[in-house]
Order: sequence, then structure tokens, then C-alpha cells
Amino acid sequence: MSGTYILALDQGTTSSRAIVFDDEARPTGIGQRMFKQHFPLPGRVEHDPEEIWISQLEAAREAISVSGVRAEDIAAIGITNQRETTLIWERESGRPIGPAIVWQDRRTAPLCEDLKRRGLELYIRKTTGLVVDAYFSATKIAWMLEHIPEARKRAEAGELLAGTVDSWLIWKLTGGNSHVTDVTNASRTMLFDIDRLAWDDRLLRELNIPASMLPKVLMSGADFGRTLPEWFGGVEIPIASVLGDQQAALFGHACVEAGHAKNTYGTGCFILLNTGEEQVASAHGLLTTVAWGWKDKIHYALEGSVFVAGAAVEWLKDGLNLIDDPDESERLAASVEDSGGVVIVPAFTGLGAPYWDMYARGSMFGLTRGTQPGHIARATLESLALQTRDVTNAMEKDSGIPLRELRVDGGAVKNNILMQFQADILGLDVVRTEQGETTALGAAMLAGLQHGLWQQEQLRSFNPPGAYFRPLMDAELRERKYRHWQNAVERTRGWEE
Ligand code: G3P
Repeated sequence: MSGTYILALDQGTTSSRAIVFDDEARPTGIGQRMFKQHFPLPGRVEHDPEEIWISQLEAAREAISVSGVRAEDIAAIGITNQRETTLIWERESGRPIGPAIVWQDRRTAPLCEDLKRRGLELYIRKTTGLVVDAYFSATKIAWMLEHIPEARKRAEAGELLAGTVDSWLIWKLTGGNSHVTDVTNASRTMLFDIDRLAWDDRLLRELNIPASMLPKVLMSGADFGRTLPEWFGGVEIPIASVLGDQQAALFGHACVEAGHAKNTYGTGCFILLNTGEEQVASAHGLLTTVAWGWKDKIHYALEGSVFVAGAAVEWLKDGLNLIDDPDESERLAASVEDSGGVVIVPAFTGLGAPYWDMYARGSMFGLTRGTQPGHIARATLESLALQTRDVTNAMEKDSGIPLRELRVDGGAVKNNILMQFQADILGLDVVRTEQGETTALGAAMLAGLQHGLWQQEQLRSFNPPGAYFRPLMDAELRERKYRHWQNAVERTRGWEE
């Protein structure tokens, strides 16, 4: 085995990042590139596939150069990515036939309604573990085939390939040698049977998607191909792991046993509970999804996907001009004692788990003549924690397992006001781990395991607890605040219908 470093590529919704980890899983160099978000029409969100690729390649090269290692010192690459975002490209030239449709995009809501009308809801839930929603890849592919000129004809002739962002990056990295994905990304397409671990023929038929367009599905730790020598100093590096970013964060927290849960505060909030090798079907609006596949074993998770979290703090900055930097939200929130009765439901792109309402839109309640910017900032931060409670409540009901603690990561976890409120509103310990880069770490950990650099027993020591937030709020106040929130959510639902 040559090399003792792992390069993790973390292709997220707003930036492409890369981190080199040493043989004790310590980050030694980071590269990052932001890229452009395109909002061509209300409800539409797109990315330029070439920009995704170039920004990721540049970030990787930067991480290698900052860390001071040579490309030959890198034993393997682990890839983690924004999930569900989908694109189609030409098999021959590798040219995308249009922009990538991002997970937040709502344009396929009518297609989803149609699937529901055709009575497919239950079948989709049973087969894929998902609810019918524009969030997932299936209707995005169907939309592109329907709306991009010649796309259907060319797809049927075998000229086009479809994939999520991991597939696209691997295709580019391997110079078109691998058209593959992993079980976690496949489980977010709404086309994948999470029990049989195969694309589902009936769903492909119902959505009129040719199977020949889809990538081969591998376990999350597997041989995904080798990079072309031209990308990294003449060296071919094996790609040893692929995980959707939320599953990677679960792994990066070493939440490897049933009952372990984590929350990542990014653009959205994604709470995942490891349910072990057992699939737990949700009766409370959660998703059943693949946590990872390794060595012929599949771990499943229950997931609550909350669409707007960090994006609400961004709105304080760009939409309301209340702050110049997301970090200032803590200072502004600290200027008042509490939210002053203000409740904000940041349903800017509808509501995800556990409500799944494509037509809800954001709302603000409880304004008085005394409402100040601090109250708005505080209510916005609180909305992240309240949405998390909606999900953990549903998780406890579905799994029958009371959560003991919640591990957290992502940009917003340095915000102590938010973390304390999170512990207060859950009545649970919130644990901020030492490594901030949990998503990249998770992909690196699996790549290192797969490559034989690390043993499973070592994983836990890679990301120990850094800070504990214990619940301090009086139980009566906690429940009153939560009731207010539920009331606000109810009034927000179905707004655009
Ligand atoms: O499901 C969407 C999720 O994978 C996006 O994650 O971190 O890019 O906002 P993030």
C-alpha cells in the first residue's frame, strides 16, 4: 500500500471543499471554492455541472498543496456530496445536456402530484423508503427527458447518462471509465429498491426513464475507479468510498450503532438515526434510507430532512440586511433575552420532514410594536432547533428508542445560543464533537477502512466529544414554546396551493 493520507472531496450545495487527512484522521490541508447558485424562476434552483467539477478539482488541488503532501502520498479518495441533485450528460463527449437540477428545486411538484393521483405513494414508500416529493432525483430526470429537446430520443438510443453529483464527479475523475454511484446516493433517487439494492423496474416504467441511463450501484466502500493521471500530478489515485453527505456525517460521528443520532446544520438540517441492519418504516413523516453499505452489510437510517436551516440565517443577512455575516446572528440574538413571542417558520421552499408540504411558505407570527431585530434573529435561530425537535419527536415514535443525546456538526454549531436552545427544546444533551469537518471525515474514514489504512475499532477515537450542552429550560416553558411553534406551522401549511 502506498501513501498514508486520504483525500476527501466534499461537494456541497454552495461550495466544493476538499480535505487531506493524515494517518490519524487529522486534517492537514483544506481547499474550498464557492460556486454560483442559479434561480432562473421562482421555485427553481440550478447548478452548472462544469462549475461543480472545476471547483471540486481546484479545491482538491489546493488541499493537496496546502497540506504539503505529494499526490503519491495519497492512498485513496473518499467522495461525499450534496444528495438528490441530478444531471444528464452525453455518453460520448461527457457534455452535460443542461444544468443540474438541485435538491431544493420545486419544479416537479406537479409530477409528484400526478404520481400520487396514480396511487403510487404507498408503493414508493415501501420500495424506496421515501415520500413522494420534488426533493428526490426521479422526477428531476423525468422532467429533463420531457423538457430538453431531443433528450428522450437520445436517452432511448443509449446516448445519455444520468447521475447524482457523485456519479458526475467520478465520471470526470476517471475520464469516463466509471459510471457508478453508491447505495446511499441511489437511495435518494426515488428509483432504488432499498431492500433488493437494485433500480426498481416498475418505477422506471412509471416515470418513463430508460434503465440504460442509470449508473451501476456499488457499496459505499468499494472500487469506484482510479483518477486520470492528468488530474493529480501524474498519479492515479483509487476512489475507495462514496457517501451522500448526510450519511457521511453520521459515519464521521462514528454513529455506527443502532440508536446513535446526529444533526448537521448546513443549508438545511439533516437528522439521521442509525437503525442498524434493520429498516424501520416511518409512520410519522420520516424517510427510511441507506446509511452505508460496506462489506456486504447495509446499515439503514431514519432521516428527517429539514430544507431550510443555515439558509434562514443567510436570509437574515441577504434578505433582511440585519447582519453582515452569519456569525453575527449570535451577537444580535444575544441583544434580547428571548424571542419576545416571535415565531418564524422558514418554509421558504416548502416544508420537509415531518410535514412534506411542497406548498407551505415562510411566515412570521407574534409581532408586536416592541419587536426588534434581535427578536427576529433569535426566532430565526430557534426555528432551526424547533424543526429539529419535530424530527426527533417523530424518530422516537417510529423507532420506539428514546434518544439519549444528539451529536451535532455543521456551520451553525459554533453558535452557542443556538446549541443551548437546541438542548433546552429537546430536553437532551447536545454534543459538539472536536472535528468540525465531520462530513469529509466520514468519507475519509470509510475510504481509509476500505483501503486497509484503518481498522473499525479506531473510528471512535477520530472525533471525540468537544463540548456538551445540557438542557436548562424549565419543562413547562419548553412545552409552551413548542406548542407555539406547532401552531405557527399549522397556519403556514398549504399557502401556495
Ligand atoms: O439532501 C440534501 C443534502 O445532501 C444537502 O446537504 O450540506 O450540501 O446542504 P448540504
